[in-house]
Amino acid sequence: MDMVVVQMISPQNKDELLPIIRSLCNENISSFIHINGILANISSYIYHNFEDFNWVGFYYLTNDGSLVLGPFQGEVACFILLKDKGVCQKAVHDKSFVNIEDVHLFPTHIACDSKSVSELVVPIMVDGNVVAVLDIDSRIKGFFSKDLEELFKGVGEIISTLFEQGQAYLDIPFISKHYKDSSEERDE
Ligand code: SME
Repeated sequence: MDMVVVQMISPQNKDELLPIIRSLCNENISSFIHINGILANISSYIYHNFEDFNWVGFYYLTNDGSLVLGPFQGEVACFILLKDKGVCQKAVHDKSFVNIEDVHLFPTHIACDSKSVSELVVPIMVDGNVVAVLDIDSRIKGFFSKDLEELFKGVGEIISTLFEQGQAYLDIPFISKHYKDSSEERDE
């Protein structure tokens, strides 16, 4: 893959984000570990190219419904997010993005970094099931405009395609039961 040129994303050049995310996904995948590495690059790219983001990363959905920390950039974060608590689990429950203007007003919000004020969570879906979430925190209240919401929904769709491509390479035990189920159904 060509070297990605790091450039700050602004309202003027945010259209460049999706092609860059696609190019970061454009790697030969022969193991789930490769997907993990791609997600590390994506979290790094987003974190370093948007001002006012203080945490960008992924959580994987596991068999018991908890979310386990995946690749991320930012402060040390909660390792496990229990079912039905917090913003990320709301995205899992709703199977839809969640845009929180002020996390202090979200009753079960799990604070990993006291600097986070607004939060956008985008589910990563395979065959209609959530397998992971992309979680982005901003230090600015109400940071995630409709435009940014749409942009990161687009990022989520690209990553969902990556997971779909990687279904044959489920070689780690803790990945989502839903992910495994949909993979088994496909094999039948
Ligand atoms: N705030 C999230 C927890 C993850 S951290 O923000 C990295 C939540 O309420 O689910």
